[in-house]
Amino acid sequence: MLILGIESSCDDTASAIVKDGRTVLSSVVASQDAIHSAYGGVVPELASRRHIEMIIPVVEESLKRAAVSLSDIDAIGVTQGPGLVGSILVGLSFAKAVGYAKKKPFVGVNHISSHALSAFLEDGEKKEVPDFPFVALIVSGGHTALLSVDDYTEFKILGQTRDDSAGEAFDKVAKLLGLGYPGGVEIDKLAKQGDPSVIEFKRPIIAKGSLEFSFSGLKTAVLQKVKGAELNEDTKRNIAAGFQEAIVDVLVEKAMWAIEATGVKNMVVAGGVACNSRLRQRISEVAVKNNIRLFIPPPRFCSDNGAMVALSAYHIIKKKGAGAFGNLNLNADPSLEF
Ligand code: KG4
Ligand code: ZN
Repeated sequence: MLILGIESSCDDTASAIVKDGRTVLSSVVASQDAIHSAYGGVVPELASRRHIEMIIPVVEESLKRAAVSLSDIDAIGVTQGPGLVGSILVGLSFAKAVGYAKKKPFVGVNHISSHALSAFLEDGEKKEVPDFPFVALIVSGGHTALLSVDDYTEFKILGQTRDDSAGEAFDKVAKLLGLGYPGGVEIDKLAKQGDPSVIEFKRPIIAKGSLEFSFSGLKTAVLQKVKGAELNEDTKRNIAAGFQEAIVDVLVEKAMWAIEATGVKNMVVAGGVACNSRLRQRISEVAVKNNIRLFIPPPRFCSDNGAMVALSAYHIIKKKGAGAFGNLNLNADPSLEF
């Protein structure tokens, strides 16, 4: 089964063609970083306008790279939420229009659960995949959550953030340090030149064993340091390293608490922040030490992409049958739950 997956929930316009819920024939992502970098964060109105300009060329490019046409596609998967409502509406309206015109089923999928399934995507050699149930740590610009993934369509939230997401914290701290956008990438680079023990930040743990996150206090702590310090290059490097170490410590610790609480032996880390080199290194070390099978997709499948959407849609269709989809009332839901 060939599925066209469309993702536009934030600031990337993405489209992919995926075969049988696993093999990625093409994945095209048009980033809007250049548009939002001047503001140090995503400007929702600018994001939706750019999606409108990019959706057709991006989908056409994904079909071309996979050497298929719309008539070869069996179904369309599209992000229905959560995310920015104006952005989601562009991809969703496009998917509905194409589905209606071409008589193809179209299925709305949850953005967070698609990130959680991204470890199943393959675009090269066959690879090992997680066993169900597994714990997923989803760390992105819009969300930070620990999930129990019991099957391709069964997700339970174990804990999530009470305020900022991990990606938001990276982006806001980068802005405080006068770095570019997306801030996570810049902090990752700068932290490599700094010493995390020079300027240490308190780890926001909430309570021992708690699987909820809170990053707004950490961001405020960085703000206090920035205000009181002479912000030379050396201080910036050390703040970046100290902040990154604190946030990575919390993510790794809570992921392991989730493993302990559920007793499972498989874990997936995904979402844009899963591109962070220090997080990848630390969580890999801890997984080896604790005998956990860890899966972190390559960066192209950690950050937003259409392939994970196509993969999710494939399993929803397999479970419910293609006949269940094609309802033109399908609407964007910025706070979509599982
Ligand atoms: O999953 P994603 O592509 O989009 C959303 O669904 O939000 O995540 C984007 C987030 C941004 O906040 C960005 O700064 C962060 O991922 N990010 C990183 C790195 N690369 C991207 N954060 C830390 N280190 C990185 N290397
Ligand atoms: Zn995302």
